Amino acid sequence: MHLLYLIANWKMNPAKKEDALRLLKSTQKSMPSASNVRVVLCPPYVYIPLMASAKKVELGAQNCFWQKEGAFTGEVSPSMLVNLGCKYVILGHSERREMGEDNALINKKILAALGAGLRAVVAVGEKTHEREEGAEKEMQTQIIEGLKDVPQSKIKNIIMVYEPVWAISKGNPSHVSATSQDIFSSVLFIRKTIAKLYSRTIAEQIPVLYGGTTNSKNLLGILQEGHADGALVGGASLNAEEWGKMIRIVENF
Ligand code: PGA
Repeated sequence: MHLLYLIANWKMNPAKKEDALRLLKSTQKSMPSASNVRVVLCPPYVYIPLMASAKKVELGAQNCFWQKEGAFTGEVSPSMLVNLGCKYVILGHSERREMGEDNALINKKILAALGAGLRAVVAVGEKTHEREEGAEKEMQTQIIEGLKDVPQSKIKNIIMVYEPVWAISKGNPSHVSATSQDIFSSVLFIRKTIAKLYSRTIAEQIPVLYGGTTNSKNLLGILQEGHADGALVGGASLNAEEWGKMIRIVENF
């Protein structure tokens, strides 16, 4: 069965918990019956307990720390997330890389998340200038260093996301997305890199999603021509109508 993923990255939104609960409810109403579709909400940490027992949707976090517990002010451990019902955690997002997270730190977080039983949604992608100078090299380094020491037995809990930094909307819904051709070649490149690190079979099986100004207008092309196994959705996941449409597109794909 070919699994498809639609993962909502709410980032630091919405400002009020009532709106977060409204988005949760509308997602639950739009939930597909198709068993090959996974719809995951990744709200800010503080909303996770409010959604812990929510039916139908799966929960994820947008970050975690790599230590299990202790004197780490402001951090949240992977096992705390598991205890609240999270199954996924986004790691390596460019907005966190911009705040100073490097591949070595992201790698520690990935290993800790996998160790706690979470699925790591690992974002990789080039910045604008690297696109001109050789996007693939930067992405290759992110993959090799990010997945360092991840054993073959844990690779099924990795979901890769191609997220070119230049295509992320930053809340601007009319921002430019990558073309289906860009997406297809990067999805292939990610699989090739995984094949070199692990095996061809693993490379074929690992989910590779796309993220960067995805919406109900470009999603079908991303799946069909981009050959992505779904999307990591920022801005559009905060609009109940748009998000509902995207769920239906994946369901009918
Ligand atoms: P966007 O965000 O869909 O608003 O471009 C995607 C992301 O940053 O994960």
